[in-house]
Amino acid sequence: MASKGSNLGAKTMKALIVYGTRYGATQGIAERMFEWLQKENIDSDVINVKKDEWPELAKYSGLILGTGIRIGQWTKEMKNFIKKKKEEINMFRGPKIFFVCSGYAAIPERYQEIKQEYCKKALENLGVSVDSINYEAFGGVMNASPDSPVGWLDKKMLKIAGKASPDFDPNGINDYRDWNEIEKFTRESFIQALQQKD
Ligand SMILES: Cc1cc2nc3c(=O)[nH]c(=O)nc-3n(C[C@H](O)[C@H](O)[C@H](O)COP(=O)(O)O)c2cc1C
Repeated sequence: MASKGSNLGAKTMKALIVYGTRYGATQGIAERMFEWLQKENIDSDVINVKKDEWPELAKYSGLILGTGIRIGQWTKEMKNFIKKKKEEINMFRGPKIFFVCSGYAAIPERYQEIKQEYCKKALENLGVSVDSINYEAFGGVMNASPDSPVGWLDKKMLKIAGKASPDFDPNGINDYRDWNEIEKFTRESFIQALQQKD
C-alpha cells in the first residue's frame, strides 16, 4: 500500500484508490491517478484488491475503484470487494468513481456498449447505485509481445480479439490507454469534486 500526502487546510483529506489487475494495465492507471492526486496535495492510499487488506471506506473523503477485464469479467477480487462493500459504497458521501480498463473500450464503435456493460450494468447487478458514482471505460493494454505477462493461451485469445482493435500489432504491446482522457476524467469527476468538498 502506497501512502503519501498532507493535510489540506485544517481538515485531513484522504482518497482511496482500489484496483484489480491481471496483467498490470489497471495498476498503471491507479498509479498515475495517485500521482495526479499527490500533485494536488491530496493524500491517498493505493490498494491492490488481491494483495492488500481492505480498509474501512468511511475514513476516506473520496473513492476510486478500477478493474481490468478478461473475457467480459472484472477481476474476481474486485467483484468480491464490491459485493462485500456495496452498502459502504452506496452510503459513501464523498466523490466516487469507477473505471474499467478494457481492450474493447478502445474500439470507437464498441465504446458506448462496453461502458454500459462493464460499468453500469455490472455495478447495478451487484447492487451498487449508479446515480452517485461516475463511471468510465478506458482502453487497456493488449500486450502480444514476446515479453508479455499474458500467458500463451491467453495470448492466443488476445491476438484473435486484437484484430478488431485499431492498428493492432500481433507481436507488439498495443497500449490503448489514453492518458489525456484518463487525466481529464480523474480531474473533472474526482479531483475537482474533492476540492470543492473541502
Ligand atoms: C485473455 C484475454 C481476454 C480478454 N478479454 C477481454 C474482453 O472480453 N473484453 C475487453 O474489453 N478486453 C479484454 N481483454 C483486454 C484486457 O481488458 C486488457 O488487456 C486490459 O488492459 C487488462 O487489464 P489488466 O492488465 O489490468 O488486467 C482481454 C485480454 C486478454 C489477455
